[in-house]
Amino acid sequence: MKKGIIILGSSNSDGETRKIVSYVSKKTYYPIIDLKTKNISEFDYEFKNIEDDFHPLIKEIVNNYEIIVFATPVYWYSMSGIMKTFFDRISDCLKIQKETGRKLRGMEMAIISCGSDKKLKNGFHMPFIETAKYLGMNYISDVHCWIESETIPISVKNELNTFIISIQ
Ligand SMILES: Cc1cc2nc3c(=O)[nH]c(=O)nc-3n(C[C@H](O)[C@H](O)[C@H](O)COP(=O)(O)O)c2cc1C
Repeated sequence: MKKGIIILGSSNSDGETRKIVSYVSKKTYYPIIDLKTKNISEFDYEFKNIEDDFHPLIKEIVNNYEIIVFATPVYWYSMSGIMKTFFDRISDCLKIQKETGRKLRGMEMAIISCGSDKKLKNGFHMPFIETAKYLGMNYISDVHCWIESETIPISVKNELNTFIISIQ
């Protein structure tokens, strides 16, 4: 059993992506970090935002977990803006927090997406796969989900159950 953490990057803390991550968290016991509740500002070339919530959070992650499960809604065919800001801030770890950056090496990454469409457009996962590669992380799996009548459809639950096995 791995030590994992789920990073939720939705604009709605109680929305559809939350429903999916709650399902995954119940089965894996992986805690959920809701980026919406954090004060994480956009990447700053002058690092004037060093005091915001990003550094304590990324340090907690690299020091305590083996796998990061990023969960994002699909907004305009891409990851959410909140999630993208988190990824942009990982650049801090390559420039001023190098020790933290080094600890990302060898960690695992998995992706949960949630959209209204049942299929993702080609290329959705590319930024995650390439970022994992750049950081020396192992990209292990992904799953795409959607919600129907406010619940997780059986076919999505089946996909999620396979995904859950892959991340444990
Ligand atoms: C700004 C915005 C853009 C969206 N763009 C897409 C999209 O490109 N493809 C898609 O399948 N769904 C799209 N949707 C629908 C959401 O991905 C879908 O409703 C998702 O389940 C919402 O999750 P949330 O409640 O966590 O935000 C969009 C929704 C919003 C608010």
